[in-house]
Amino acid sequence: MKVLGLIGSPRIKGNTAKLVKEILADASENGAEPVVYNLAKMNLSGCNACSACLKKGTCILEDDMQELYRKIEETDVLVLGSPVYMREISAQAKPFVDRLHPFVHDSSKPLAGKRLVLAYTQGNPNVDTYGKYFEYMEGIFSHVGFDVKCTVAAAGTIGVDDILEQEELLVKAREIGKNL
Ligand SMILES: Cc1cc2nc3c(=O)[nH]c(=O)nc-3n(C[C@H](O)[C@H](O)[C@H](O)COP(=O)(O)O)c2cc1C
Repeated sequence: MKVLGLIGSPRIKGNTAKLVKEILADASENGAEPVVYNLAKMNLSGCNACSACLKKGTCILEDDMQELYRKIEETDVLVLGSPVYMREISAQAKPFVDRLHPFVHDSSKPLAGKRLVLAYTQGNPNVDTYGKYFEYMEGIFSHVGFDVKCTVAAAGTIGVDDILEQEELLVKAREIGKNL
């Protein structure tokens, strides 16, 4: 089983990275080979709306998304993590999501059967605050073609290591990874 982890936080060792890595930890113990990228370190342009993907089926923008397209093609599982910024995903994660547009129009459904876990961290201590938004995001990823497995969110994570104090959540994250 191949597993891809993407972290959409500029705090490279922050809560989002820790949450994604926790999910991946047990996936690895079960023989998976996780490949992890931090989107904040990658050169990812926004979609330029050239519509080439509608004609060719693929994106023609030559940046690091090309490597991610290859990794998505190979992977069985994607774990995508983002901090909540201004009540939505981060600017680092957003270009990645927009650049999934070619898959929406690909009638061969290349993402079918690829499992997706969405992982968020938020400063707000109430884990239900962005529940509707997280549901909406699950809908987007289903529309793109992923088999959306679940969403997990860490709340009240402001300091860079705050998530480490949330033992119950970390156990839940590991369980998710184990069941992938
Ligand atoms: C620009 C910015 C905007 C933020 N907006 C929100 C928000 O709307 N709601 C919220 O709960 N937390 C918000 N936060 C807090 C982060 O979501 C939270 O601290 C998160 O765990 C950071 O993840 P990291 O440790 O991986 O960087 C914001 C933080 C920043 C820097």
